[in-house]
Amino acid sequence: MTIADLEPTTPRREDEHPLYRVAGVTRTYTQKGRIVKALTGVDLDIMPGEFVTIQGPTGGGKSTLLQLLGALDTPSTGSLLLDGRELASASAKELGRIRAQEIGFVFQGFNLIPTLTATENVDMALEPLGLDRAQRRTRVAEALAHVGLDDRGDHLPTELSGGQQQRVAIARAIVKRPRVLLADEPTGNLDESMRDEILTLLESLCAEGITIIVVTHDSAVARHATRRLRLTKGVVQDITK
Ligand SMILES: Nc1ncnc2c1ncn2[C@@H]1O[C@H](COP(=O)(O)OP(=O)(O)OP(=O)(O)O)[C@@H](O)[C@H]1O
Ligand SMILES: [Mg+2]
Repeated sequence: MTIADLEPTTPRREDEHPLYRVAGVTRTYTQKGRIVKALTGVDLDIMPGEFVTIQGPTGGGKSTLLQLLGALDTPSTGSLLLDGRELASASAKELGRIRAQEIGFVFQGFNLIPTLTATENVDMALEPLGLDRAQRRTRVAEALAHVGLDDRGDHLPTELSGGQQQRVAIARAIVKRPRVLLADEPTGNLDESMRDEILTLLESLCAEGITIIVVTHDSAVARHATRRLRLTKGVVQDITK
């Protein structure tokens, strides 16, 4: 037997490198003198184009990990590379730039501004990008069309269904053309049919090349994933079968 016989049969694409490389990441919170170890040692690679779900018990560290991946927070120790750049030691200014340009966020509660229309809510995400008004108008219209809401741009959030509000939130997340979309329980406030609508939309975005990372309690959501992770007591386990 030669070394060549031991090579894996699936060819490894040499040009593919991880979108995220998480190594030995911990996150410890200090709350009124008490220490909470939310993440105790996370090692994880996420490749471009994956649809990853993160499940696990309440308090397991899911939202904490998503905030680190979203450059909203930095690890207490360890290394967190986004496309080869170290986020753990990046300046607040650099983290802000990365969030504005490269990362889309979606939350359980939609987090739309109630006094702004769907169009205005989506447009807000373009503020830091320095585009002119015509470019912004085109991008916002495209994003709303992408989520099937081209005829709802003038509606306020209260004039939209829950599923439609979440689609506006997804339009706001994708209008900046991010590399990755991070979602924390995006279907938690939706009924089953609206949940399925949102999942179909996330799958189509993934097919277009956006990496999708979703925290969820719902195993129906996890069935759409290409990789399923479980986070328990601050440690990640791969549960893709
Ligand atoms: N800002 C904070 N300050 C102090 N402790 C925190 C903070 N945020 C989270 N924690 C603690 O860290 C641990 C992990 O919390 P996290 O929100 O990441 O859990 P989760 O898996 O998202 O839970 P859930 O499913 O309930 O949303 C919990 O014990 C929590 O109390
Ligand atoms: Mg959470």
